[in-house]
Amino acid sequence: MKKILVIHGPNLSLLGKREPQIYGMVTLKQINAKLKSIAKKKKVSLTIIQSNHEGEIVDAITKASSRYQGVLINPAAYTHTSVAIRDALVASGLPTVEVHLSNIYSREEFRQKSLISPVAKGVILGFGQQSYYLGLETLIEII
Ligand code: DQA
Repeated sequence: MKKILVIHGPNLSLLGKREPQIYGMVTLKQINAKLKSIAKKKKVSLTIIQSNHEGEIVDAITKASSRYQGVLINPAAYTHTSVAIRDALVASGLPTVEVHLSNIYSREEFRQKSLISPVAKGVILGFGQQSYYLGLETLIEII
């Protein structure tokens, strides 16, 4: 069975309470449940983590390279700052799909640059929770 690592970056544990006008009312638990149900239907195994710590995310990606076939990641605020996460993704050699709930290109200028997008297979953004589900389905097709 193919295995995918799903990574939620900082502050995504607060979904449902955090800026609902931008991120909606959906909770991370609800998103994860739906991701699991998509994976089950497609007969793929998912490991899901959320971390507020850049180094922890780097470690998870590094360990994933021998155990997983792909990475679905919402790097959250690290999207715009983390050379370390980008380098870890490249080093892992794993196909990566980057997702965002919001359309980062319609927001503040500092969000309009992703350090991750150039090393991702593709990016899905702006569709709220649907970005995750489309991202997972696409990644499953790729691997
Ligand atoms: C986000 C967009 C980022 O700019 C922000 O820091 C987040 C969430 C999104 O999913 O829209 O935490 O990645």
